[in-house]
Amino acid sequence: MINIQEVAKDTVWIGGSDRRLALFENLFPLPNGVSYNNYVVTDEKIVIFDTSDVSVADQYLENLKAVLAGRTPDYLVVLHMEPDHCSQIENVLRLYPNLTIVTSLQASNMIRQFFPALTDAKFQLVKEGDVLNTGAHTFHFVAAPMVHWPEVLFAFDDCTKALFSADAFGTFGALDDSVFADDYDFEKKYLDEARRYYANIVGKFGMQVTNVLKKAAGLDIRAILPLHGPVWRKDLSFFLDKYEKWASYTPETDDILVVYGSLYGHTASAAEAFAAKLRRETGKGVAVYDASKTDVSYLISEVWRCAKVVIFCPTYNGGIYPRIEGFLNDMAALQVQNRTFALAENGTWGPVTAKLCRAKLETFKNCTVIPEVLTFKSALHESDEEKLDAFVDAVARA
Ligand SMILES: Cc1cc2nc3c(=O)[nH]c(=O)nc-3n(C[C@H](O)[C@H](O)[C@H](O)COP(=O)(O)O)c2cc1C
Ligand SMILES: [Fe+2]
Ligand SMILES: [Fe+2]
Repeated sequence: MINIQEVAKDTVWIGGSDRRLALFENLFPLPNGVSYNNYVVTDEKIVIFDTSDVSVADQYLENLKAVLAGRTPDYLVVLHMEPDHCSQIENVLRLYPNLTIVTSLQASNMIRQFFPALTDAKFQLVKEGDVLNTGAHTFHFVAAPMVHWPEVLFAFDDCTKALFSADAFGTFGALDDSVFADDYDFEKKYLDEARRYYANIVGKFGMQVTNVLKKAAGLDIRAILPLHGPVWRKDLSFFLDKYEKWASYTPETDDILVVYGSLYGHTASAAEAFAAKLRRETGKGVAVYDASKTDVSYLISEVWRCAKVVIFCPTYNGGIYPRIEGFLNDMAALQVQNRTFALAENGTWGPVTAKLCRAKLETFKNCTVIPEVLTFKSALHESDEEKLDAFVDAVARA
């Protein structure tokens, strides 16, 4: 069924949501689906902003035809050549062979890599500072390298002050009855998923995101039109502030994250007792996760939210328990910064994980690993109360 929504003057959303995909990029769980957004601006010339993922291609093409109502589009803007937004390039060109693809040089080469049959496609190559005028609307292109691919462009419409922000400001989660963030309780419904999307998809590129936010600060942005998740037309500063924090690796709260691994439950029990004491002592929010039961993308998201991270890790065959090792490796890959870490280790015959985890964490930029370690053999007992209290104190003070 056709589902199109006007998001700004002459500007219509024609996207769709996939609620069946289990894993985004075949990696990240999607319990609430994901939307793929596309837009059409109808002016003297008609511009399409991006195509869609193959999963929502039928919806996209149905919506596109409805918006065009028999007219022929002039331009297809490709903000970056990732298949979740580009699967339909060849099909759209088959329908409208006179379309000019407006994109960066690098994306044009990638388009040819994905679609070698497009030998006759017309390209208009644009870079930072270039414009596309369609009559009443003038689109300025802004380079956003590595937000999320190297060739990413944003486009800013002088007329509506809408920023077509590609994958930036995107959110996991399907869209329901509206495309606008302000029609939902965003903090309740989408904020955690927006953070998880940010941290895992572009978290590594904080510096590049910061640079593009600085460029955006010079624009009078009235609406943000991302490729995933809701469109922003009100309270933009709420989301821009979140992005500034996330991009600068500034903890969003002073909550404390506790992540544990546990084969048989003893390390879990110790982590829970620790977390309860820590909550009582600090009055701060403490979030506890079992690394085996929680997809690592959620742990990463919580690292972006919390200021301190406490890891309880059993020794496993002389090494770090695999689920904790995966978490550490993901944090390293995403270049986590500005956090305080504390380590607790368990081992029945020779606990060694504090030393091994510390060696990894000490390579992280602007991070501290507190010297106090909680070491216990097999399980924590009442007789260890003092030791536990000392560790709680050390984490609280850090
Ligand atoms: C397969 C396996 C390998 C282990 N390897 C080690 C080890 O190399 N060194 C050690 O001190 N403890 C080792 N342990 C013991 C655990 O680190 C831990 O002390 C024990 O599982 C109790 O904690 P839990 O109930 O949280 O799993 C191992 C346990 C298992 C089941
Ligand atoms: Fe992307
Ligand atoms: Fe995307």
